[in-house]
Amino acid sequence: MGRNLTPRREPLSPLRYPGGKALLAAYVSGVLEENYLSGCTLFEPFAGGASVSLELLRLGFVAETVMVERDPLVYAFWHSVFNDTDALCAAIEACPVTLDTWKLLQPAREVDDPAQTEYTTLQLGIAGLFFNRTNFSGIIGAGPIGGESQSSNYKIDCRFNKAKVIRQIRTVAAFAPRVQIHFGDAIQFLQASAETLATSFSFVYVDPPYYAQGKKLYRHSYTDADHVALATFLRDQGYPWLLSYDDHPRIRELYAFNQLQLQPIYLDYKVKSNRRAQELVISNLVIPPPVYDGDLSQQASLALAQ
Ligand SMILES: C[S@@+](CC[C@H](N)C(=O)[O-])C[C@H]1O[C@@H](n2cnc3c(N)ncnc32)[C@H](O)[C@@H]1O
Repeated sequence: MGRNLTPRREPLSPLRYPGGKALLAAYVSGVLEENYLSGCTLFEPFAGGASVSLELLRLGFVAETVMVERDPLVYAFWHSVFNDTDALCAAIEACPVTLDTWKLLQPAREVDDPAQTEYTTLQLGIAGLFFNRTNFSGIIGAGPIGGESQSSNYKIDCRFNKAKVIRQIRTVAAFAPRVQIHFGDAIQFLQASAETLATSFSFVYVDPPYYAQGKKLYRHSYTDADHVALATFLRDQGYPWLLSYDDHPRIRELYAFNQLQLQPIYLDYKVKSNRRAQELVISNLVIPPPVYDGDLSQQASLALAQ
């Protein structure tokens, strides 16, 4: 049976995330259901906007999630959401969304490790959210919307609807007892969790930086050697995992091993181009073809014809 990819109306994640996978959550829920994995612990070792974790928690398909993120500001944001909700929301209320604030927060972008700085995790989390909502395309390392001159029609505050962001934060903060968030490297974390993963009812959703665009979108991206290391690592893991990637020939080459299931999927967002992005979904589970609604049906048949 194919899986439906109909998006929900309002995203749960308070982050605008380049490469965000909210549209993939319904597909992943179908994979869990068909593989008798409903109710498992979900590991999401490249958390980013965490849209799949949040959606699957909301839908009740996973009991809890374990998220990992290497970008200290993104990590600190999630840590604050789940551990310091009221202070985070109060800081958002109080914060002027101006170029002066953007400049004031610049030193936070220099921090590499939240445990090795004078900033508190809450301060880093506020900075992470601020850059995500005020930078071009939500890219933490980018410049402010409207540029430093603020002469365009789009100003720095045009994507920062405080009431909506606070509502989203309070909604997802309700999942706190079922969420773990860790700072660090995805593969190292999975290696350290090997015993838990081998002996518990778990599923790993892996959404690494894109092969082609990763360097432009994330402050921590992957070199070719990193992509190879991830493929080599996943090849040896017996627990159920599912990976999503940009559809690049190198990725198809790296994952052309054993009886891996590979499914091309169109997601309705654009990655620095006017075309819909095609993603690859790769798994060591049996995964169904996607089902598309409305105007995506033509792309669906194209995807499945490949
Ligand atoms: C494709 S994005 C994930 C998007 C996410 N699935 C969503 O729906 O928003 C990849 C994420 O991995 C993070 N990242 C990069 N290198 C990492 C590493 N070595 N370990 C953990 N996270 C890393 C990036 O900062 C980025 O947030």
